Amino acid sequence: MPLVPTAELVDRARAAGGGVAAFNVITLEHAEAIAAGAEAAGVPAILQVSENAVRFHGGLVAIAAAARSVAQASSAELSLHLDHVVSEGLLKAAQHTGFSSVMFDASKLPYGENVKATAAAVRWGHARGIWVEAELGRVGGKAGEAPLDAHAPGVRTDPVEASTYVAETGVDALAVAVGSTHAMVERTAALDHGLIARLRDAVPVPLVLHGSSGVPDEEIARAVAAGMVKINVGTALNTAFTGAVRDWLDANPAGVDPRKYLVPAREGMAGTVERFLRVVAG
Ligand code: G3H
Ligand code: ZN
Repeated sequence: MPLVPTAELVDRARAAGGGVAAFNVITLEHAEAIAAGAEAAGVPAILQVSENAVRFHGGLVAIAAAARSVAQASSAELSLHLDHVVSEGLLKAAQHTGFSSVMFDASKLPYGENVKATAAAVRWGHARGIWVEAELGRVGGKAGEAPLDAHAPGVRTDPVEASTYVAETGVDALAVAVGSTHAMVERTAALDHGLIARLRDAVPVPLVLHGSSGVPDEEIARAVAAGMVKINVGTALNTAFTGAVRDWLDANPAGVDPRKYLVPAREGMAGTVERFLRVVAG
């Protein structure tokens, strides 16, 4: 099926009062598992490639081509999104590689600089039909950094500031800090549902939840019901992948053919994708 623009998937989910899940692609098997999980659940999904994954592959071209080919060969509705983009060079590489959306991450910058850099990214993206997400507040635990205290002052997104930020930058979606943290391997995060509702009322654009691997199903369902639309999941796929590989190697210590353990790894990730999609789609 042809790629579907991320904007269309997000708008459609929002209009239906539901959400759409976005999954991180690191290897070809991740992309195949996301497509398989979406086909099994019968709902759309977003394949997202982060700047970290691009760095791991030594550039965007090969992993983008793999994700794009898998998506186009799938019977599910899938879009391609570039995630946590910090460098301007990568932002601009979105253009001819099939990505219809980008998350431009200036969240580490002071507020004024974040606004300036993000507004420029939005102007560039909108001139080329690219949907732009940005982050205000700090969802910690990115790229191996120590997790932030999600309850510390200044970490959570302030609704008044969020409203001004969206107006000043023109972003299409806003990633908010509401209690989740990146890279959690246990699903124990508690979201601030009151804050989600205040943010939903304060900003006109869809909200994005990062670090969803650590959020229990019921919390995700409540967040979607309260107005969170794009739900980003990464680590849960890696937990499934690595667990399956570890189990296979433990049981077959002399095995050397990677296909033997990548099959259960891919199946494990596809099952994880399907489960998240069913929760997010409602
Ligand atoms: O942008 C990607 C997500 O926020 C993934 O976070 O790996 O904690 O699920 P996660
Ligand atoms: Zn994230």
